[in-house]
Amino acid sequence: MTSNEDFLPYNLPDISDAEIDAVVETLRSGWLAPGPRARAFEADFAAYTGAKHAIALDSATAGLHLALIAHGIGAGDEVITTPTTFAASVNVIIHTGATPVLADISLDDYCIDPAAIEAAITPRTKAIMPVHHGGSACRMDEILAIARRHNLRVIEDAAHALGTEIGGRSIGGFGDATVFSFYPTKNVTSGRGGMLTTNDDALADRCRLLALHGMSNDAWDRYTERGAWAYQVLAAGYNYAMSDFQAALGHAQFARLPAFQAQRRRLAERYSERFASLPAIIAPTERQGTTHAWHLYVIRVNTAATTINRDELIVQLKQRGIGTSVHFIPIHHHPYYRETFGWAPGDHPVADAAFETMLSLPLYTRMSDHDVDRIADAIEAIVSANPTGPPS
Ligand SMILES: Cc1ncc(COP(=O)(O)O)c(C=O)c1O
Repeated sequence: MTSNEDFLPYNLPDISDAEIDAVVETLRSGWLAPGPRARAFEADFAAYTGAKHAIALDSATAGLHLALIAHGIGAGDEVITTPTTFAASVNVIIHTGATPVLADISLDDYCIDPAAIEAAITPRTKAIMPVHHGGSACRMDEILAIARRHNLRVIEDAAHALGTEIGGRSIGGFGDATVFSFYPTKNVTSGRGGMLTTNDDALADRCRLLALHGMSNDAWDRYTERGAWAYQVLAAGYNYAMSDFQAALGHAQFARLPAFQAQRRRLAERYSERFASLPAIIAPTERQGTTHAWHLYVIRVNTAATTINRDELIVQLKQRGIGTSVHFIPIHHHPYYRETFGWAPGDHPVADAAFETMLSLPLYTRMSDHDVDRIADAIEAIVSANPTGPPS
């Protein structure tokens, strides 16, 4: 590495004065709890996704948990999800008392393979949780058709997928519920937060209730001049609502989404142009009829065209001041799930094979064309120094 200043991390948030001003204004307003800013964020988010309801939450994990609980999923039920995801997708299923069931992925998008879902269905299956990996759209037509045939709910983990579209329409209203994340690494951040969208009125009511301790009216309704102090607890709910402090940041960030997405796309396309002439690297694709949110730019090392493996490539990129990440160590490789469910590496061959060679390159809006070129140059130099076959 040349110097610390030159280090390119794999991810950085993009916070402008507009967001800082919005947060400061909220701090000065005297109201930080869930209230008018969260509601304004919800209204704009619902309009953007086209979903009837948007509910601002403390995290995507909270949203996935609520969506499962609000559908009545619990002990004795099974929920099918992907092995190529973050622990949260699976943990929330476990928290309801239900059993997670993993179904393998497709190699072209790293998302759950509809044929593998079909094969994993049992009489106990209640829901499918597809994950739009890195912002790449899942095959929702096929997944929704399977769900209809077997009377299953579809809860989309869209933690990576703000900006993902199918047929020119934002995701958010395809499944029964869709959950987005505003964790600091995501395309839009609220510091920490999430948004649940749905077209189902009853589900939305239930999620709102459960997100605020099961109380009949929230603090904004009770403590402001227009409110009444009394409330009733109608369910054993959770403390999952987004505060106005978080919403101030998230809403101001959200206003910049079109510019963010345009920049992400430009950078992703620049990477892909570079890798088109580099057989050692398999670039990500955007399936026809879908829009990739480019939350992650995931490449695979083509072991037929270079002798360097993924781990060594990561080390050598780091030596050149380039940070990377891997999304994800498959769920069935982790000790907890192996011990609890008897899962093991090798259970899901496509996810296992993808994991061996995949890595996520830096992709964030503060990057320049020069940064992409520097990373592509470094990868080209490293793989060229490690050719397959005898040196020519
Ligand atoms: C695929 C996936 N699902 C869910 C989550 C949980 O999101 P949050 O941190 O907002 O709870 C993450 C977090 O990164 C994720 O990557």
